[in-house]
Order: sequence, then structure tokens, then C-alpha cells
Amino acid sequence: MFDFLVKNASLPDGREGIDIACKNGLITNVEKNISAEAKETIDANGWLLAPPFIDPHFHMDATLSLGTPRLNKSGTLLEGISLWGELKPVQTVDDIIARSLKYCDLAVSMGIGAIRSHVDTCDNELKGVQALLEVRNQVKDYLDLQLVAFPQDGLYRDPTALENTIRALDMGVDIVGGIPHFERTMSEGAQSIKTLCEIASERGLLVDMHCDETDDPMSRHIETLAYETQRLGLQGRVTGSHLTSMHSMDNYYVSKLIPLIAEAGVHAIPNPLINIMLQGRHDTYPKRRGQTRVRELRDAGVLIGFGSDCVMDPWYSLGKADMLDVAFMGLHVGQLSSREDMAWCFDAITSNSATIMHLEDYGIDAGAKANFNLLQAKNPIEAIRLRAHRLAVVRSGKLIATNAPLKAELLIKGRPDIVDPASYAPKKA
Ligand code: FE2
Repeated sequence: MFDFLVKNASLPDGREGIDIACKNGLITNVEKNISAEAKETIDANGWLLAPPFIDPHFHMDATLSLGTPRLNKSGTLLEGISLWGELKPVQTVDDIIARSLKYCDLAVSMGIGAIRSHVDTCDNELKGVQALLEVRNQVKDYLDLQLVAFPQDGLYRDPTALENTIRALDMGVDIVGGIPHFERTMSEGAQSIKTLCEIASERGLLVDMHCDETDDPMSRHIETLAYETQRLGLQGRVTGSHLTSMHSMDNYYVSKLIPLIAEAGVHAIPNPLINIMLQGRHDTYPKRRGQTRVRELRDAGVLIGFGSDCVMDPWYSLGKADMLDVAFMGLHVGQLSSREDMAWCFDAITSNSATIMHLEDYGIDAGAKANFNLLQAKNPIEAIRLRAHRLAVVRSGKLIATNAPLKAELLIKGRPDIVDPASYAPKKA
């Protein structure tokens, strides 16, 4: 007797008519025609069953704070940072916990199973750290929350950032972050990378830095991050988030840089919604897109996950915890329009990010954790096209969120009375 059984699902690899059986929180069988009984059975009706969406880059301490204490008028990254600086002293630990838990509810209902959130350590009270450690604990049964110690105001530019970042790690924050392009000089930026990578190396921690989130083609901290990764033997444990300056760099320099990033095993996390919104703000026309060179990095062997970065905060007024929105934007901005490229964009919000976050037992395989979503789409490309409705969200072999299928009633004489957007899928993917 299984605990949970899904009948007749399609899988991201193209298999159809598959049953998935779960017991004790794990997937035990992935095959056709499982006949054994289960305590709970759902019929997938041929819809796509995929592993959870993974958001590898987020700012939970700032989320849902939109309008407090005011709105970002210029829409720039720098006004966002100063606005966040106005909110930090007036918000309480309880405020941050309440907003974060509310966001986690939304994220789970949208099928997100893990989030890597940066948490600001430039605050002598470490309110965000206290709050998010509490939230990490409260949500652990239904959401994996990884925390990155993030010296938002600069490791050296802020006088107590280094000390507070180390305190945050001592309190239990998981990962070492940084923001080299916000330090006072290029050399202090480079020094911050060296220091932070050494701290990570000594403590056996992963690194995930905001790196070169600027349109400045001379912002080349990713080069130092790749160098320090190799010097300290941290291959596969370091991520460069954003990397937007690469969009603007000289092509000859990039032809040297990308192989260095690949050789160092540094991962990349572009944040398409935020990069397209914040970058290029000093341009007239043509305006730069500000998304890093996704195709070129990927083709060189760099592992890439797309992050959402912000939802309703000082930097971004929109967002609804929909990783399919993130993939949709990344696909368009990166002109990733072939069938293979579009399917890869689905990997960038699922399996690639799971690997970047070092999540274990992830996927739709026997022995993996019984965490998955049933989406109202036939395949990953359709899921992105439709930003597919989440019909069921399953965690540890239990339903934790459900939705009725999305359909519109059409009231036009002589035409069908129901319109189902998912029925417009091409016959062959
Ligand atoms: Fe960020």
C-alpha cells in the first residue's frame, strides 16, 4: 500500500502515461500501470508532473514591503538600495517574519520548493538575520530556505559589515554573499571577494555573490571571483549572481572571460525580470537589455539557474512568485527560441537551480524526495508559454496546495462553450 499515487502523468523528459508512487516521503516507483493501492490517488489526466520550481536568488527580508516608506521614483538599483536603507531602521523583526511567511505561502502555492534568499547583514541588530532564521525553521516542513549573508552596503564601504557578516554566519546563515561592484573602488571590490571566499573556504560554506550588477563594461569582478574559486579549490561551490556587466563588455574580453568562468566551475544566476527592469537606465536609445550572456555561458558549460530576485519591494513593484514568469522573461531577453532552448529555460528554473543550491534527492526518480507539481500543460515548453496553472503541489508525498483547472466559459453562439488555453498545444513538441 502506497501513501500517494499519481496516475497518467506526462514527465519533463517526454514520457507519457506514467504513474508515480510515493511512500514515507519518497518516490518509490515511476512506471506505467502501477496497480497497487494507495491511501490517496490523483488522476493527472496526462498533464505535466515536474519537480518543484527552485528560486535560487531572492530577497525575502525586503519582499512585500512595496511603498514602505515610499516608492522608488527613478526605478534604478541605486535608488532601491537607498530606499531599502530608509526602511531598515524602522522595520521590526516581527514585520519581516510576517511578510516573509506571507510570501512563503504564495511561493508554495505557486509550486516553489526551495528558495535561496540573501539576507542583509549591514544592520548592527541583524534584524533580517534573526527574522529569516526563524522563518527558515517555521517553513522547513514545506519549503527549503537557504540563507546567504549579504553585506548589502558593501563589506568595506559599511564600517561594521564584515563583523556583522561573520556574526550572521555564526548565527547559522548558510552561505557567504557579497557585492563587490558596490564597494568604493575596484580594488576594494576585488579584496572583498578574496576575503569572503577565504571565509567560505575556512568554514566549508558555499559562496553566492551579487557580482557586476551594473551596466559598466569595466566591472570585471566575475574575473576575480573565478580566480579566487580556482585558487581556493571551491569549484562547483561558487555562484556569480546577476553578471549584468557582461552584457556590455567588449567581445574580445568576453571570449577570454567565459572559458575562465567555466574552468573555475562558477555557476551563474541571471535574474531576468529584475535585470531587464533595472539595467540600461542611463541609456537613451538603443537601450541595453542588461541580461548576462546566457546562451554563451551555457554553451561553454557554465551551469545557469534563473532567479526571481524581487517581489513587491524597493527594486521591483510586480511579481507573484511565478518562476514560469521568470523563465518566460529569460527566454525572450536571451532570444532562446528554439525548442531545445525553450526546454532548457524550464531546466533553469528547476533542475539547474537545484544543482546550484546543492539540493539532494531532487527529481522525478525512484528514491528521490516525493516533491513535485502537477501543471496544467503537456510539456515544459507549454508550461512556460501558459505560465501554467498549478493543479497540485505535493511535498513529502502529501498534497499541500491545489487549484481547479483553469477554463473560460465562452458565451458566443455557435462557438465552443469552454476555452482551455492548454488545449492549444502543438501535436508534437
Ligand atoms: Fe539580488
